[in-house]
Amino acid sequence: MSDRKILVTSALPYANGPIHLGHLVEYIQTDIWVRFQKMRGHQCYYVCADDTHGTPIMLRADREGITPEQLIAGVEQQHRADFSEFGVAFDHYHSTHSEENKTLSSAIYKSLRDGGHISSRSITQAYDPVKNMFLPDRFIKGDCPKCGATDQYGDNCEACGATYSPMELKNAVSAISGEKPIEKDSVHYFFNLGHFAEMLSDWTKAGHLQPEVSNKMAEWLENGLQEWDISRDAPYFGFEIPDAPGKYFYVWLDAPIGYMASFKALCDKQGLTFDEFWQKDSTAELYHFIGKDIIYFHALFWPAMLYGADYRTPSAIFAHGFLTVNGEKMSKSRGTFIKARTYLEHLNPEYLRYYFAAKLSAGVDDIDLSFDDFTQRVNSDLVGKVVNIASRCSGFITKRFDGLLAAECAEPALFQQFIDANTSIAELYENREFGKAMREIMALADKANQYIDDKKPWLIAKEEGKDAELHAVCSMGVNLFRLLVAYLRPVIPTLATNAESFLNIEPQAWPSNATALLNHHINSFTPLMTRVEADKIAAIVEASKENLEKTPPVVKAKAEKKPAENTVTSNEAIAEAIDIEDFAKIDLRIARIIKAQSVEGAEKLLQLTVDIGGETRNIFAGIKSAYSAEDLEGKLTVVVANLKPRKMRFGVSEGMALAAGPGGKEIWLLSPDEGAKSGMRVK
Ligand code: 2FM
Ligand code: ZN
Repeated sequence: MSDRKILVTSALPYANGPIHLGHLVEYIQTDIWVRFQKMRGHQCYYVCADDTHGTPIMLRADREGITPEQLIAGVEQQHRADFSEFGVAFDHYHSTHSEENKTLSSAIYKSLRDGGHISSRSITQAYDPVKNMFLPDRFIKGDCPKCGATDQYGDNCEACGATYSPMELKNAVSAISGEKPIEKDSVHYFFNLGHFAEMLSDWTKAGHLQPEVSNKMAEWLENGLQEWDISRDAPYFGFEIPDAPGKYFYVWLDAPIGYMASFKALCDKQGLTFDEFWQKDSTAELYHFIGKDIIYFHALFWPAMLYGADYRTPSAIFAHGFLTVNGEKMSKSRGTFIKARTYLEHLNPEYLRYYFAAKLSAGVDDIDLSFDDFTQRVNSDLVGKVVNIASRCSGFITKRFDGLLAAECAEPALFQQFIDANTSIAELYENREFGKAMREIMALADKANQYIDDKKPWLIAKEEGKDAELHAVCSMGVNLFRLLVAYLRPVIPTLATNAESFLNIEPQAWPSNATALLNHHINSFTPLMTRVEADKIAAIVEASKENLEKTPPVVKAKAEKKPAENTVTSNEAIAEAIDIEDFAKIDLRIARIIKAQSVEGAEKLLQLTVDIGGETRNIFAGIKSAYSAEDLEGKLTVVVANLKPRKMRFGVSEGMALAAGPGGKEIWLLSPDEGAKSGMRVK
């Protein structure tokens, strides 16, 4: 065992949604790097956890009628299953809602507070008077104060780019209750990031960041560091701040501490020493793999928090770019927003591991998953080049030589070339230049195939008295195959394991000093990987397509704005389709129409007074072409009861009556009405 001690993390996925291919770029990248380090004999640990706190998780649990604890337990199970089937092998997977994290978060907070880095003051914020909670910016919606564009969330306008305080939005409503927010004061706690300006200025230039990231940090540092609001008022799903009852740590405070908490749990499980990795003068290495959208948290807040609380800072932050699919942002309508689970139902996860490896570099550029390129690369590289070597040679070994490899290496120089390549391939893996590593490995595979093409064992096999030559050539092929598998092992561990059992060898270490397998029995060959079939990709896309015509009107929050988002576009900010949980938000009620009347000056509208169960609502419905008012009174219909009240020229509409049909005379209220047919699309 070497004396390198390495702790590695990937960003903690939020516990409010499934893992998708965009996430997997990072987990696969990290997992490959960790597997490589382990193969090299280093003491390397890979930890992660679900990121469980915050308002969206609290509200979702609320909507589903379960506790946040129940919600996060279910999501954690799904995340674990997805990761494990993609071969992402954490040494420990934890939750930020854990005792370890609570203890560490409190201790770090207290240490920052005692060091004079926390301050508190009262601030004014938007408050939902119905839900009795403060509203995060992204849960406030209204018209842009500059250009008047409707339906703008939070603090910036997507139409004109203006930035403002959410309270400046015109006709602002809470995206949760639809109610107009009020302004309310409360005390908040702040982390004084500015105290660490000098330390951060040095740290961000000291080789811990990729050059492009370091440059971005210099810009941010030049603009001055804002204090960071680390508290949220109840109700909030998170940890209560030790000396501030009713105040909770903002999710981003305890999320990175979750890295430590997960490792602490691993230490307790395996008897490792936590301090050895986290104390100020630690010689262990600490690496965080993250997406470029959360650089601000990891390259500024996190090192400052660690430093301020007297812990070591990270050795490096490795940021990667986003995933595009077929050259475009992942899209639910195009079926390219692909969940890990959907992929797993149709294709071998190692195809994707190899493809991502082939595309990854050490930089922050976005990577593209092109389905044609994916198919072509996997089929030509893994199936056509690598696996093919074994299938070309092993049949003869089994049939003609009883599974026994030759006693001598036929081409020691060629074998040595394959071994010598280990240095540069290792350097590429170490530097996260996986794309280049894959190219170098495939160049070796080409050499191995060339050797076999030149020797033509299928012809030798037909000649009398050439058994020794056949044996030598095929054994050589198998030996080269074995080295290729060793080099690819971090990327395609399942294929490597199956190949190792075919080769009848132990799990391979990094082959710096490997010697050829001589006089060694191998097992009979079974196909190690089949070709990617185009119809499987089509099936994934089809299964991922969400039909937007079916999208009912919903009240939803904008995807979370992160401090660094002004510099990047997030893959996950997808607005055009909804999940089942969004659908579950819709409060559909059977309503009795108490009164119906025409609306003066409105050609199409009827004004309905409906009883939705102990409550009457005023609803304007565009159904006059199909119904006369008097026919409707006393009838039942279905209404959306939690639609935001909408101010119309004729008054406020407090819900929506659902109807079906093409229009004109053919509009049927969804009611026990003979005109309505089942299967009609809801308008
Ligand atoms: O952006 C995200 O998905 C966050 N859940 C990442 C947290 S990483 C770390 F800081 F915990
Ligand atoms: Zn605007």
